Amino acid sequence: MTDQTTRITERSLTAIVLAAGKGTRMRSDLPKVLHRVAGRTMLGHVLAAAREAGATRIAVVVEPGQEAVAREIAALAPGAAVYPQAERLGTAHAVLAARPALEAAGSDAVSDDVVIAFGDTPLITAATLARLRAPLADGAAVAVLAFRTPNPTGYGRVLTDGDRVLAIREEKDASAAERAVTLCNAGLMALSGTHALALLTRIGNANAAGEYYLPDAVGLAVADGLAVAVVPVAEAEAQGVNDRVQLSEAEAEIQGRLRRAAQVAGATLIAPETVFFSVDTVLGRDVLVEPHVVFGPGVSVGDGCVVHSFSHLEGATLAAGVQIGPYARLRPGAVLETGARIGNFVEVKNARMGPGAKANHLTYVGDAEVGAGANLGAGTITCNYDGVNKHRTTIGAGAFIGSNTALVAPVSVGAGAIVGAGSVIAADVPEDALAVSRARQRIVPGWAPDKRAALQAEKAARAKKP
Ligand code: UD1
Ligand code: CA
Repeated sequence: MTDQTTRITERSLTAIVLAAGKGTRMRSDLPKVLHRVAGRTMLGHVLAAAREAGATRIAVVVEPGQEAVAREIAALAPGAAVYPQAERLGTAHAVLAARPALEAAGSDAVSDDVVIAFGDTPLITAATLARLRAPLADGAAVAVLAFRTPNPTGYGRVLTDGDRVLAIREEKDASAAERAVTLCNAGLMALSGTHALALLTRIGNANAAGEYYLPDAVGLAVADGLAVAVVPVAEAEAQGVNDRVQLSEAEAEIQGRLRRAAQVAGATLIAPETVFFSVDTVLGRDVLVEPHVVFGPGVSVGDGCVVHSFSHLEGATLAAGVQIGPYARLRPGAVLETGARIGNFVEVKNARMGPGAKANHLTYVGDAEVGAGANLGAGTITCNYDGVNKHRTTIGAGAFIGSNTALVAPVSVGAGAIVGAGSVIAADVPEDALAVSRARQRIVPGWAPDKRAALQAEKAARAKKP
């Protein structure tokens, strides 16, 4: 174990996530931090990064009355403390809304490290939060995350004297010379629990915005002779989302990461720029994903699967060697066992396809259990819904369902049974039986020419009438 890991494991990590703000420029009924990127809310991304970075205490500062935000926190980070910020008076004021968390971080025998993250900065990674925190173990009181950009307008500037950090100046308060500085504050900050509360409570609001600026902690720490570190980050990772354009830019950035990760882990993406993942998508080795595929939340794909073009998956589990699509739709609860095949225009919902089972064309399999090697012909429909309740269909191993069959659930077809094409199956079919429910076919030899002649004569008679 290295010296540094020893020290880090001794100090716990408190994360304070600022999630207040309506996000007016989103022009949305939904609070800004609940907008999704790669299938997860922005707040969810930040909470996940905080937890992955080792935060054992998480505090979230929210806008009072945003019940949906509170519910999201309860669902994703049940242990997190939630603090309302009554008035929006600036980032330092927001952090102080979580005062009990700061007090706790400073009170233990070994104080906690505190990282402050923004709920609308979803691209931040756990690795970056860990890097941001690292200088605290070497004695820094404050560490700021910063990037260089040729276009720094709008950002707080990190003012330095050689290698020494002096302060952060917000755009509104900066002189012309300070505005020329291209080193920008990414907004996120790490503070030693020993100093955090004392520094934050000294921050005033005598500035152009009349706000309590979190970045002022830097100047105060420097004035006290405390060490301040600057930790570099890529601008793209620190990007905040304030409107829908930036939301789509964040989505593009995350999709880029997810595509690269899938490829590095052994999946072939023929046209990666056309494949969309959720953060929790799991792909095995030697998975082939053809162009234009969407992976919604909760999808896991086993080794050697092939996902043909234009397929849409969510909440689905594919074992090894499964093939789906083109144009397959897998909805939540779809479980495809080894070697199962789902073809074009087939929808599977809350249903298990056993090993090697097939539904190759134009089929709906909902609330069903399909046994190993069973074959569902083109146009098979499980009629799972009676308008009020959902019912299950069970199909035994090796059963063969003829094309255009309606299976009126609840119903079961025994193993090895055969259902004739065009049947409406409303009663259970025993093992190895044949079930046919369509009308028996009738043949009338030579009937067609007479019928055609009669129809043509009628038409001619109508045309003669004035
Ligand atoms: C902030 C930094 C700036 C930095 C930039 C990076 C301050 C004063 N400035 O500016 O130096 O370059 O981020 O993007 O910190 N929030 C609250 N309550 C408040 C105010 C803000 O919860 O009273 C939250 C917001 O919801 C947001 C975050 O804090 O998630 C940042 O606030 P914002 O107003 O966007 O700060 P910037 O002006 O972008
Ligand atoms: Ca911002």
